[in-house]
Amino acid sequence: MGGIFGIICRGTVPKGALLEGLKRLLYRGYDGAGYAYLDKDGKLIIKKAPGHLEEVAKKIDFINIPSDIVLGHTRYASRGWPVIENTHPLSDCKNKVAVVGDGFIENYEEVKKELSMRGHVFTSRTDMEIYAHIIEEAIDQGAENVTTQLIKYSRMLNGAFAIASLVSGVKKLYVVHKGQPLVIGLKQGGDCVYLSSDIPSLYGFADEAIVLNENSVAEIGLEEIKVYDIASGQQIPLTQLLRKRVKYPVEVVGKAGYPHYMLKEIMEIPDAIIRTTYSIMEKYLRLASMIIYGARNVYIIANGTSLHAGYVASYYFAEMAGLNVNVVSSAEFPYYALENVSTGTVLIAISQSGETSDVINSVKLAKQRGAVIIGVTNVVGSRLTLESNVYLPIGAGPEIAVPATKTFVSTLVAMAMLSGYTGLYSGNMSRNEYEELVKNIRNHAEILRRELPRYSERAKLLSEKLYGWKDLYVVGSGINYPIALEAALKLKEASIIHSEGVQLGELRHGPMVLVKKNYPVIVIKPVEEQAVELYNKVAKEIISRQGLLITVSQDGQGYGEVINVISTPRVLSPMTTIIPLQLLAYHLGVRYGHPIDTPPGLAKAITT
Ligand code: G6P
Repeated sequence: MGGIFGIICRGTVPKGALLEGLKRLLYRGYDGAGYAYLDKDGKLIIKKAPGHLEEVAKKIDFINIPSDIVLGHTRYASRGWPVIENTHPLSDCKNKVAVVGDGFIENYEEVKKELSMRGHVFTSRTDMEIYAHIIEEAIDQGAENVTTQLIKYSRMLNGAFAIASLVSGVKKLYVVHKGQPLVIGLKQGGDCVYLSSDIPSLYGFADEAIVLNENSVAEIGLEEIKVYDIASGQQIPLTQLLRKRVKYPVEVVGKAGYPHYMLKEIMEIPDAIIRTTYSIMEKYLRLASMIIYGARNVYIIANGTSLHAGYVASYYFAEMAGLNVNVVSSAEFPYYALENVSTGTVLIAISQSGETSDVINSVKLAKQRGAVIIGVTNVVGSRLTLESNVYLPIGAGPEIAVPATKTFVSTLVAMAMLSGYTGLYSGNMSRNEYEELVKNIRNHAEILRRELPRYSERAKLLSEKLYGWKDLYVVGSGINYPIALEAALKLKEASIIHSEGVQLGELRHGPMVLVKKNYPVIVIKPVEEQAVELYNKVAKEIISRQGLLITVSQDGQGYGEVINVISTPRVLSPMTTIIPLQLLAYHLGVRYGHPIDTPPGLAKAITT
């Protein structure tokens, strides 16, 4: 992921505009920052450094750009370590092209090989660099070929990405949109045209945004903008593109238009799911799966939300790979499980931040006893990636709100892929079944994209009913039991109420005593058919005690207030049932007026 911000002006780029635009896109990544511009002779100049934009801007001048065109970037390290070589803009062999990108190109290695064979030298470990060399080949035959070349290669390249480029001597930006957003900002009577990854970042610079279609290539100049459809190669008239007014209040700029990061990050879940499926390269998945398959014993360690993802993963491994894994909190691991670790042990360590000290500590101890470490994290370059033998980047993009939401779902996706792939070795899954799994995950994300606004409305309405209660149960069963635990954690973090995750069958063994008139009990209806009868029994008992029953249902049926969610195959169920509950925690927190993104006394990761 990354944030792209470009400016083309009649005169010099306004002072401070690039820095302000990039700051508003920091939520998209802060592992490196840089920009490219053309000097007075049309020569391409690149300035960049790894690290957070605000730190980089102390060393490199991001305020005064001595040019009438600039293309800037703030990086999320997804492929390639956060070092200068991998920081954008990336360049070609002759330093005539600057490329910045967002997202993942799936099959870039084939094109990279092809380009290397033609003599191109690659200096970074990013997927996006191929575009610098692709454009280099076009300009060797004249700049007018760039667009045709971009269309040709973008047809062959798969993934979810966007790139923007600046070519020496040409006052234009060339862009490709293949699944990651790009918008063009215009202002009536203004002297500049803008390019950005989102609309809110254009606030104050532009009053209207042209939203580029997915699968398009564009040539953006000050006087003329040309957009082409990648599949047909045909030019798309600008009148056919969606146009939006840029009118966000200042406090939501940087949150992509949402009042809180938590809501924004929940709304990004469909994108995050798709990104995870592309982020984890097959060669690493293969390696990790082989290690797991050959292991003597396998542990999953994590904390908080990541631990709940680990619990779901234990169902995945059992179902898709026929493998029993032990899931242990990394805060407990050194005391109760370390003695079982030796050569032949595999430790799957999950940490969104990759910095949680309990995880790192357990990893180090297990390594000393000969364990192999597979890290699963959202942050490339984190301590966990440094300590792991293999790591799988979930690629959800930066998550800023303390209550983790999109990274939880992305971790589930990563663990489903890992379990499914391990199943290829254990013989529990065929290649077709594995591919079907990934396809289903992507399809689910697309359906979710349409359903999310409805989930949010429903959750908002139900939060009104829960308002006032400081105590409730979230009940789950089978593969959704960890979701009950995770939903209860979200209600604690965001709504700051006491909530307890309980197993469906266990509710009748004690906890039911608290259920009285209007006492809230949220039940995730089991997806396992054999447990539906148990659900019916428990639901009736809650109703007979006049409790306030809310059912999350995947089959459209249930007792009490029902939240209908997408019907999915069993393994995908937790990826969908958690979402209305995250939204419920969010809306309830908003009703209480809590600082949702930064709950008092909590940190995104405990690093000490
Ligand atoms: C802290 C946070 C939790 C988070 C946990 C694990 O306790 O408050 O919300 O789930 O750390 O974080 P990690 O980055 O390791 O996934």
